Amino acid sequence: MSSTPDNPFNFEASAASDESIRDAHAKLQSQKPDKPGGYSALPLVLLGLMCAIVFFGSIYMVHYSIRFDPLVVNSHANRAKPGNTGPVQLTRAQLGKSIYLANCATCHQPNGMGVPGAFPPLAGSEWVMGSEERIIRIVIHGLQGPITVKGNEYNNVMAPLGAVLKDEQIANVLSYVRQEWGNTAPDVEPATVTKVRADTATHTGYWTAPDLLKIGN
Ligand code: HEC
Repeated sequence: MSSTPDNPFNFEASAASDESIRDAHAKLQSQKPDKPGGYSALPLVLLGLMCAIVFFGSIYMVHYSIRFDPLVVNSHANRAKPGNTGPVQLTRAQLGKSIYLANCATCHQPNGMGVPGAFPPLAGSEWVMGSEERIIRIVIHGLQGPITVKGNEYNNVMAPLGAVLKDEQIANVLSYVRQEWGNTAPDVEPATVTKVRADTATHTGYWTAPDLLKIGN
C-alpha cells in the first residue's frame, strides 16, 4: 500500500501488510500447544506409572495377605508378643488347620473323607492314627501304588511336599489330621520330622505302602 490520491494520508502505511498478517497468523498457528487429536507425553507417562503401581500393589497385597483365617490371625497375634497372656494359646493341631486347607484338602477334602476310588480318607484312617514315622515319610517324599485304607484299596499317587513344607509345618499339619474329625492320636513334634528328614536324606522317589509297613510300628 502506498499513498494515492484517494488515500492522501496513507492511513495504512504504518499498519500491517497482508503478508505480515498472514505471517503472524502462521507463527501463532505453529505455536499452539494443543494440536487437535494429539496427546502430550507427560500425562500418558503418569497414567502408565499409576497403572503399574496399582497392578504391582495388588500382587503385593495378594502375596502378603493372610487370607483372614482367624487361626492364622490369632497365631500371629500370639507370636507378636512372647509374654502374651491372652486367652488363646493355639495347639499344634489348630496351627495345622490352615496348612491342611492349603496343601492337603484339594485331595483329602476339607472334611478328611477323601474321594472314593481316588483319594483315601484321613478321617478314621489307621495310617493317620498309626506310626508317625510312616506319615511323616508320606508327606516328605510322597506315596504311590496300592494301599489299603479303612478296608478300601487305592492305587494312586500323592506328590511329595517335603520341599514345600518346613518341619514345623509338617508337624502341625500331621497333628491336625491326627486330632480332627474324631481322630485321636498325639501331636507330631517338629524334632521328629527333622530326624526323619535326616534319616531319609538319601531316599529318592515315592514311598510305597509295603515299604512303609517295614518301618515304625
Ligand atoms: C495331589 C493330591 C494329594 C494331596 C495334595 C495330598 N495327598 Fe495325601 N494322599 C493322596 C493319595 C492319592 C494317597 C494314596 C496314594 C496311593 O494310592 O498310594 C494319599 C495318601 C495319604 C496318606 C496315607 C493314606 C491315608 O489315607 O491315611 C496320608 C496320611 C496322607 N495322604 C496325608 C496327606 C497330608 C497330611 C497332606 C497335606 C500335607 C496330603 N496327604 C496331601 C493324595 C494327596
